[in-house]
Amino acid sequence: MSDPVVQALVRALGERAVLTDATDRARFETGWRYGKGQARCVVRPASTAEVSTALRVCAEHGVRVVAQGANTGLVASSTPDASGSMVVLSLERLNATIELDGKGRTVLVDGGVLLSQLNERLAHDGFWFPVDLGADPQIGGMVATNTGGTRLLKYGDVRHNLLGIEVVLGDGRVLSQLNRLRKNNTGLDCKHLFVGTTGVFGVVTRAVLQVAPVPKQRSVALVGCRDGQAVLALLQVLEADLGDVLSAFEVMSANAMAAVFAHQPNLRKPFAELPRYAALVELSSTLPADTLALDGVLEARLGAFLEGAGEAVTDVLVGKGDEFWQIRHHISESLRSEGKMLAFDISVPRSQLPAFTAEVERLLAAEWPQVRLCDYGHWGDGGTHLNLVWNEVAVGKPATEVVAALQPRIYEMAVRDFDGSYSAEHCVGPHNQRYYDLYTDPLVKQFCALVGDFCDPGDRLGTVRLA
Ligand code: LAC
Ligand code: ZN
Repeated sequence: MSDPVVQALVRALGERAVLTDATDRARFETGWRYGKGQARCVVRPASTAEVSTALRVCAEHGVRVVAQGANTGLVASSTPDASGSMVVLSLERLNATIELDGKGRTVLVDGGVLLSQLNERLAHDGFWFPVDLGADPQIGGMVATNTGGTRLLKYGDVRHNLLGIEVVLGDGRVLSQLNRLRKNNTGLDCKHLFVGTTGVFGVVTRAVLQVAPVPKQRSVALVGCRDGQAVLALLQVLEADLGDVLSAFEVMSANAMAAVFAHQPNLRKPFAELPRYAALVELSSTLPADTLALDGVLEARLGAFLEGAGEAVTDVLVGKGDEFWQIRHHISESLRSEGKMLAFDISVPRSQLPAFTAEVERLLAAEWPQVRLCDYGHWGDGGTHLNLVWNEVAVGKPATEVVAALQPRIYEMAVRDFDGSYSAEHCVGPHNQRYYDLYTDPLVKQFCALVGDFCDPGDRLGTVRLA
């Protein structure tokens, strides 16, 4: 407790707001997938004013700070570095406000509110925040990383649903643009600087979100497809004929599904034989089923598609939506249990998904035959998690060597050959910093430097460098 920064934070915010003990700090120091560091302390402000005070104190002492929401991110941007000198600013106590304007269909919410907590509150009034994913992040973290998820196809990402924002800048100034208007065309909308920039320009303390009515019905199917072209043909048909009610189009490879059934004993394999790809199709609507019965609509359209597709489509399973979604949401953690894993979060123009995947398969077959491609993802949005899994003994090389050989090659293919993105939805963090450095236009970096100078004059926020 002789640390002057810790003492100053305790003086300003009280003992309860500052964690110094190694055991208490531990959960803030390790990320869900990547990121392991050490914090000087964890400060947990419970209001915007307290966030401002905490950042001012840290600025006065020249201390670097990393903001942390629920720590569910996948690129190591919410954990401190290894120096032991950074302060973690956790938003977990800043979670009192959820103010719904039902007639306006907007909600004002504190940055530390969990997505599940927000949706529980909204459900009382028939609404939800439709940026949907397997994890349970905080709203501030979702804004900072511009979360996408599995229903982006219908509802868009966080940016698309964000109306206003309140941010505490690096030295404690509070920038408030808590706009509740859908139409407000009056110059610079500053919120965009803080969306998808992982907290390096400021800490998101409040947001105004647009919410959506909860659908009255959902209809879900799994469609077994022989190859990626059949998946794209299905997507095209569904968008053309059922686009108004299509709310998800997710794809799982046989290898990804096999990992789920190997590690989740409660989940049953729905296919006799796993197809190369299973497309998870979801229709949803606020119309009640007696007005428009989505199960019937989906079954009829998929039946016709099956007839026309010949051998390209192997199975059509309608119903059991919860079970199908469970399979989808358990892929990520099941792959982790398979052995060594290298995760990717890539997007390419949607039409190129089969060609791009085939290139990666060719590379693996030629040079790394022991490495398994377990791809899955958000094909409706051009997103693919081309995760690679291997047994270290069978490969006979340390994991670092496999990663060093494959990661840059695959990113290069995605970005240069296929005009894609090396981070489609997980944002930028230390995990992909060197690819940000490599692929970002120098003029964009210069712009970030200017914004950074204004918002975070000491350049002390976050662990990623955008400039
Ligand atoms: C998913 C996460 C990994 O789609 O983005 O499962
Ligand atoms: Zn994803």
